[in-house]
Amino acid sequence: MRLETQAVHAGEPSNNSEGPVVMPIFQSATFLGTGTYMRPADTPNHRALAAKLASLEGTEAAIALSSGMAAITSALHTALQPGDHVLTQAALYGGTWEFVHNELARLGVSHTTVDAREAPSWRAALRPNTKVFYAEAISNPLVEVGDLAAASAFSREHGLISIIDATFATPVLCRPCTQLGFNVVVHSATKYLNGHSDVVAGAVASSAAFISKVTDHARVYGCTLDPHAAWLVQRGVKTLALRVRQQCASALSLARFLDGHAQVSRVYYPGLPSSRDYARTVELFGGSGGGVLAFEVKGGVAAADAMLGALEVATVAVSLGSVETLVTRPALDTHLHLGAAGRKAAGIADELVRVAVGIEAVDDLLDDFAQALMVVRRALGIITLAQ
Ligand SMILES: Cc1ncc(COP(=O)(O)O)c(C=O)c1O
Repeated sequence: MRLETQAVHAGEPSNNSEGPVVMPIFQSATFLGTGTYMRPADTPNHRALAAKLASLEGTEAAIALSSGMAAITSALHTALQPGDHVLTQAALYGGTWEFVHNELARLGVSHTTVDAREAPSWRAALRPNTKVFYAEAISNPLVEVGDLAAASAFSREHGLISIIDATFATPVLCRPCTQLGFNVVVHSATKYLNGHSDVVAGAVASSAAFISKVTDHARVYGCTLDPHAAWLVQRGVKTLALRVRQQCASALSLARFLDGHAQVSRVYYPGLPSSRDYARTVELFGGSGGGVLAFEVKGGVAAADAMLGALEVATVAVSLGSVETLVTRPALDTHLHLGAAGRKAAGIADELVRVAVGIEAVDDLLDDFAQALMVVRRALGIITLAQ
């Protein structure tokens, strides 16, 4: 089956006593006589969603967990022992950055950050105890696309477990385990997989052996997804391909518009031919740069905030991958905990604005950003009211 068909049909009930076409919600913590209990993610809703996710990723198995961070930390806990060392991409989602920089050491695990775009530099960072290579398919918030094929090959060559956060790419752009040879893929299912800003959830997909260990971890640490949330994600996934294709097309239009705008100093979008990552985006994702872009507004933080305040269609809120366009300033929220020095090292300017494009009519989005940037230009006195 092709991805669109898998998204609709995989993991759905083939028959059951009452005959509903749609998977019912089994909102029960425990099950008669079978030893089935909710915490180990072993209810019908967990199993149905796991089957759908494994089908989409082309992996032997998958597990849905209580958040994207639960998925990331469970995968890393499963792969690592005290005394191990991890190579991580420098550009990371803020929560993952915090886990790597603040929590790993408490588990007795050391790390070295590497530039995921610079494969030749990785060998020097290897240590005899290096166990994991951790990357993001498209990084948050600067939407960098690392040398993912090289990361997978490098991991194989050196016996590392390769883990990739494919939240921004989704299986629509890339299936990292089947297409690139990664060992483990993690998602914040809160984002594109669910797609409607009404659930926090995560997923890990990998071999049956690895997922069995993640399941043991989830059982002990208790990071279980509620069946109702699992049901919502399962419903959301059905429209994944339609949503993501629309979001990618609209993101490209908005990136082009912003790229030529006098009030914008820099646009980050790997689907623009001018991007440093465009060749890799073509090679890995067929040229689609995903549904998220970022840009720096001329005039600094005050100008960026004035623009955010003037948006009428786009919603100013954290998160991404939803049907509504969500706009945020990462220095204020997603990457706040990196601190000024951490953000500077990661290249995240205070005036950086991240846009996660939704499924609204693209012309309404273009008009909205055009009028909001016009408000900034008036506020800065670059143009007069009459203009
Ligand atoms: C790339 C990426 N991974 C993981 C997460 C964490 O997901 P969650 O909020 O579902 O824990 C996020 C959240 O923004 C993210 O952007």
